[in-house]
Amino acid sequence: MKFVAGQPRLHQRFPELRDSLPHLKLGSRSPVRRLEGLGLWLKDDGQYGDGPWGGNKIRKLEWILPDARRRGRGTILTFGALGTNHGLATALYAREHGLRVALALVDQPLDDHVRSQLERLRQSGATLHFTRDKWRTVAAVPWLMARHGLPYLLPAGGSSPVGTLGYVEAGLELGEQVAEGELPEPAVVVVAVGSGGTAAGLALGLELAGLSSRVLGVVVNDMLRLDSAALGRLSRRAARLLRRRGARLPEAAPSVDVSREWLGAGYGQPTPESGRALAMARERDGLALDPVYTAKAMAGALALLERGTSGPVLFVQTHGARP
Ligand SMILES: Cc1ncc(COP(=O)(O)O)c(C=O)c1O
Repeated sequence: MKFVAGQPRLHQRFPELRDSLPHLKLGSRSPVRRLEGLGLWLKDDGQYGDGPWGGNKIRKLEWILPDARRRGRGTILTFGALGTNHGLATALYAREHGLRVALALVDQPLDDHVRSQLERLRQSGATLHFTRDKWRTVAAVPWLMARHGLPYLLPAGGSSPVGTLGYVEAGLELGEQVAEGELPEPAVVVVAVGSGGTAAGLALGLELAGLSSRVLGVVVNDMLRLDSAALGRLSRRAARLLRRRGARLPEAAPSVDVSREWLGAGYGQPTPESGRALAMARERDGLALDPVYTAKAMAGALALLERGTSGPVLFVQTHGARP
C-alpha cells in the first residue's frame, strides 16, 4: 500500500485506529543506505527525532506520550540504569509536551559516558531516585507510585505494548522503503535488545508489511528476561492492543531470533568483539556506535557476515545521542 507522508502508517493502514490510538509525530522517515566498508545495509534511526535527542526511544515516545496524556496522567514513572538513554529521551521530550518524569535508576559501571548522561538527567528536570538494583527498585514501586500521585507507569526501556508500536511503525516504514527500491529485502535485520520493544515491534511490523526478513535481537542486558519467548509475547501483546483498539489485524505470528553471544560479562561491560565492531564501523564507514548497545549489535551483524549468512543483512542504528 502507498503511504502518505506525515501520518503514521498504522493510522493509514488501519483507519479504525485514528480516534482510538493517539499519535504525536516527533520524527520523520529515517534513511537507509549501503555501508560499503562493512558490507551491510543500514537503517539509520540515529537520525530519527526532531528534538533534543534521537534514536529508537523517540519512535516509542510517539505513542507513549499521547497515551499518558489521554489517561490524564501528569507524571511518567519509568526505570533504567544510571546512563539510561530511554530515561533521558523520555525526560527531554515529556517536558516539551507538558509531562513530568520520575526515574528509578539502578547502578551500572561508571565511566565518562555514564557520568555525562547522569549530568544531563540531573539537568533535565526529572526527579531521580537511586534505587541501586533491580530488587530494591521492584520493592520501591508502591512508594514511588504514592510519591508521584498515581503516575503513568512505563516499563524499563519504554517497552510496553504501546511503546512497542513505535517499531511496528518502523517495520511498516522499512517495508515501504523495500517496495520503493531503496534497498533489497533483508534476509536478516539485526538490532540491539535492551528491553525488547524495538526487536518485538520490528518483527510484527515487518510481518504486517509482508516481508519475510528475520529479526535477530542481540541481547545487551542481563537484568531482564529477554529470550525469544519473552519477545514473541511482547509482539503479540502489541498486536492484541491494536485489535482491542479496533484494528482489523490479519493473523500474525511474529518471532524474533535472540542471541546472548555478544553480551559478555553483562550490561555495559565491553567485550573484545564490541570494541572491534565500534572501531570497524567508525573507520570503514564513519558510523558512530555506542559501547553499551549498538557496538554489541554490530558485533553480531559482523559475525553473521563472517559466517557466510546468505542474503542482505540490515543493521538498525538505534543510537541517536545529541550533544
Ligand atoms: C541506543 C540504544 N539501542 C538499542 C536499545 C534497545 O532497545 P530496546 O530497549 O527496545 O530493546 C536501547 C535501549 O534500551 C538504546 O538506548
